[in-house]
Amino acid sequence: MISNKIKNGLNGIVKIPGDKSISHRSIIIPAISNGICEISNILKSDDVNHTLNAFQNMGVKIIDEANKIIIHGKGLNSLKKPKKDIYLGNSGTSARLLIGLLASQNFSSRLIGDESLSKRPMKRISDPLDTMKARIETYDGKLPIKINGTELRPANVNIKIPSAQIKSGILLACLNTKGTSDIIENNITRDHTETMLQSFGANIVISKSLNKKHISIEGKKELVSKNIDVPSDLSSCAFFIVAALINKNSNIIMKNINNNPTRNGLLIALEKMGANIKIFNRRSNNNEEICDIEVSSSNLNGCELDPEMADLMIDEYPILSVAASFANTPSIFRGLDELRVKESDRLNLILENLKNCGVDCHVINNDLFINPTKQKNIKDKFIKTDFDHRIAMSFCVMGTRIGPLEISDYKSINTSFPTFKKELNKIGGNIY
Ligand code: S3P
Repeated sequence: MISNKIKNGLNGIVKIPGDKSISHRSIIIPAISNGICEISNILKSDDVNHTLNAFQNMGVKIIDEANKIIIHGKGLNSLKKPKKDIYLGNSGTSARLLIGLLASQNFSSRLIGDESLSKRPMKRISDPLDTMKARIETYDGKLPIKINGTELRPANVNIKIPSAQIKSGILLACLNTKGTSDIIENNITRDHTETMLQSFGANIVISKSLNKKHISIEGKKELVSKNIDVPSDLSSCAFFIVAALINKNSNIIMKNINNNPTRNGLLIALEKMGANIKIFNRRSNNNEEICDIEVSSSNLNGCELDPEMADLMIDEYPILSVAASFANTPSIFRGLDELRVKESDRLNLILENLKNCGVDCHVINNDLFINPTKQKNIKDKFIKTDFDHRIAMSFCVMGTRIGPLEISDYKSINTSFPTFKKELNKIGGNIY
């Protein structure tokens, strides 16, 4: 795919698809609750489809209609042993959450994934589950993973790695485990699982102090289903925000965007950089904060971000790095260790591709330094993505300023944003 320089700015209304994290949880939690759940604005993408297929494979009745998905949940112990291995493609969220959920079921199952997912660390979820007496066999800490479902001990877990996937996997294991589990999160990460469990009637108590969170949850309490209207994904919106900021004569609007305070670090960072972003119509839906966003071309400054910011915007560093490449002053983003274990080694790909685009940048101890230069001399127009959707979309946005850039393995974009190209071209982009 080639992303070309644009001529007249980006203008119009962009339709951002449903939030990926909430979409996964909107299938998983209703599938083990009691009652019927109608989900609107769910993200229809490869990653979410893998979660959906997994539950169909475990006997859950799921009806896929044009504008909504309907899930018939029958309770915590209603899942059936899958007839075949559960294939999760590229989806780390599906893998970590399902490992937890399946650890406390009364059947065995086996999870497999694509080449990239099969390289990603799974001990971060199997280790805490081991302390609950789970019986999980990993392949050297990775997929394929066999889960011999069994009665677990309640959790008493202190999570050191900042990861919503680990927290959520453990919470799902606790739901079907007799007794009270205690989980401490040392860095507060996205809270969609806790929020949805609360609204489905789980016995869950949450307290916070500084950047720590304590979650206490009582197992074996049946959940009651509710309809879910999935807000649109700020992480997908991020590509359009930055595209409008770095291109002259741009003004775009995006509606119904999730503005959850555990996810919106990008908006805080861009505000620091002097971005012209208006947030309006703030409201809430199913306990998730929502807003509309208007973005205009801006003269950006660089900024320095502490490691704590990574917990609030881990998926947005690739696109923020593109924004920082067009700022007037340098930026430093600290503590990006977790970027090494995403769909690719994202820190390395950001660095390699920015350098090829003529941006002066380097990494020291997982801190990223970007020194923007006025003139970008492209060294190599070929963008390596290692099938990572967020790297592909970030460098499509880079192409709107300095293109043509040739984006490799661009089909990975279907992981989270199948309509990305159509939406960008609709408002003045030039990708083909
Ligand atoms: C996600 C959590 C994050 C994020 C991923 C989605 C989730 O991963 O990077 O895209 O839905 O819980 P980690 O938990 O590994 O940080």
